[in-house]
Amino acid sequence: MAIFTVFGNPVAHSLSPQIHQAFAQQVGVELNYTRSLTSVLRFRRAVAEFFRSGGAGANVTVPFKQQAFDLVTYVTTRAQQAGAVNTLVPLGYGQLLGDNTDGIGLVRDLQKNLQQKLTNRDVVILGAGGAARGVIAPLLEQGVASLTIANRTIEKANLLVEKFGQPTLQACRFEQLTIPTDALVINATSASLTGQKLPLESDELAHAACAYDMMYGAQPTAFMQQARQAGVAVVQDGLGMLVEQAGAAFQLWHEGAELDTQKVIQKLRKTI
Ligand code: ATR
Repeated sequence: MAIFTVFGNPVAHSLSPQIHQAFAQQVGVELNYTRSLTSVLRFRRAVAEFFRSGGAGANVTVPFKQQAFDLVTYVTTRAQQAGAVNTLVPLGYGQLLGDNTDGIGLVRDLQKNLQQKLTNRDVVILGAGGAARGVIAPLLEQGVASLTIANRTIEKANLLVEKFGQPTLQACRFEQLTIPTDALVINATSASLTGQKLPLESDELAHAACAYDMMYGAQPTAFMQQARQAGVAVVQDGLGMLVEQAGAAFQLWHEGAELDTQKVIQKLRKTI
């Protein structure tokens, strides 16, 4: 039976095994998907051992995505743009391909599951860390009208604007942020992890038509609560993104697999 795993720390609560088992059932394949808890010091060896013992593919989650990027033999363009790898594909002879499906996961969730238009849309990303960097190129590729990166530390947002060098891309501090009418606002900060509110004026947030948090959980995040209070029409967490990025990874490992991701999202929603 093909063996897959997710490397992370912490990883005990990762939903990836459930998601991949559900996909496997949909397409009628048998697989064993485990969780691998490792450390920064042991990560490289753990990955090598997993593939040496016949691992068919792996996902990589926090905090190893950049380390995974550094250790693979080849990277896809989207992983290169993200500067991070979340999916490992063995190529034989100890070689690994690193891909990043986070951005496509977000785009698919927004477009397919939430019917959010991205072409010609004004989009605001809150945050300029790894999570933000991973989704900038895929959003730009959809032909957004503007993409504003708002961050507490403006230097980090400026660096991303320089890196991607697109005229539609701009950076600002939270206090300077003006949210265009009907914009899509995506929270890519880690503030939700600690339950912290973002320094956003309710009047400003009210201009958005959709507020999306890349985090998910049983309870709405602080950002989602802020958006609801501001009266934003569509407020959503990142569970759909999680399932869609997993779907894109599954399709890399099982070429041509057609998946019903919405069914998996609905099922998971009842368990988290
Ligand atoms: P990740 O890989 O999850 O993006 P990260 O690289 O540590 O993690 O980045 C965290 C992001 O969340 C950063 O943009 C950070 O802002 P700074 O660059 O100013 O540090 C942002 N962030 C975290 N907590 C925040 C808070 N309470 N208010 C505003 N921004 C916050």
